[in-house]
Amino acid sequence: VTVGFIGGTGPEARGLALRFVRAGIEVVLGSRTPDRAARAAAECRSRLGTMDVRGALNREMLPECEVVFLTVPWEQATGAVDTLRAEFRPGQVLVDVTVPLRFAAGTPERVELAEGSNAERIAKHVPEGIELVGAFKTEPAHVLGEIDLPLDCDTFVCGDSAAAKMKVMDIAARVPGLRPLDAGPLVAARTLEMMTVLAIQLNRSHRSKGGRFRIVGL
Ligand SMILES: NC(=O)c1ccc[n+]([C@@H]2O[C@H](COP(=O)([O-])OP(=O)(O)OC[C@H]3O[C@@H](n4cnc5c(N)ncnc54)[C@H](OP(=O)(O)O)[C@@H]3O)[C@@H](O)[C@H]2O)c1
Repeated sequence: VTVGFIGGTGPEARGLALRFVRAGIEVVLGSRTPDRAARAAAECRSRLGTMDVRGALNREMLPECEVVFLTVPWEQATGAVDTLRAEFRPGQVLVDVTVPLRFAAGTPERVELAEGSNAERIAKHVPEGIELVGAFKTEPAHVLGEIDLPLDCDTFVCGDSAAAKMKVMDIAARVPGLRPLDAGPLVAARTLEMMTVLAIQLNRSHRSKGGRFRIVGL
């Protein structure tokens, strides 16, 4: 599987890419500009000493990747999907990582959306034949980027296609220390997006950047 990123130059995408490439997965970091894509890929290659990551324009990356992560700011997600509509290929899996949040007087809060979650909002824009999965919403970029730090956490995967979820869970399972858990249908993104807000709040009150989730008893 080749994994691509729309908005592959931000900290969340670069952190995920480092973990995936280190797990032996080929990655293409997409961007709206070739220079930014090239720089992000070069940084990733130099940190890992491997050639298994390259940069490309979003529209060039998209047709060649079986699984594509959407790692743009949450407000831009539907616009990014619309802009790239013609480049999607039937059978691809789109992984929504976005979290609709804002800070009100320094406190993180989830932005209420009519659709219930940003994943469900994006679902209305995804071309036919593309399966949407919500995942990796609760892993902080800071932790992902510290590649020598064991992840030691769970990642929650939701979606309405069992096969698409399985594909994403297979990718996650290859990353050492990361346990993928099937969180149910796409509407579960409402909960996952809330959990991220909780994690940020906990991190702030504990003056940490590393708070993340591990479910016990499973
Ligand atoms: N940061 C975290 O710890 C974290 C944790 C969990 C989930 N998330 C979610 O992951 C997503 C990415 O987070 P981030 O902090 O990495 O974001 P970011 O740095 O703000 O943005 C990521 C990339 O998105 C691209 N982008 C910006 N505006 C765009 C637009 N209008 N259309 C297309 N692409 C656009 C930019 O790439 P180019 O300019 O190169 O095209 C940018 O480098 C967010 O939705 C966030 O909610 C983040």
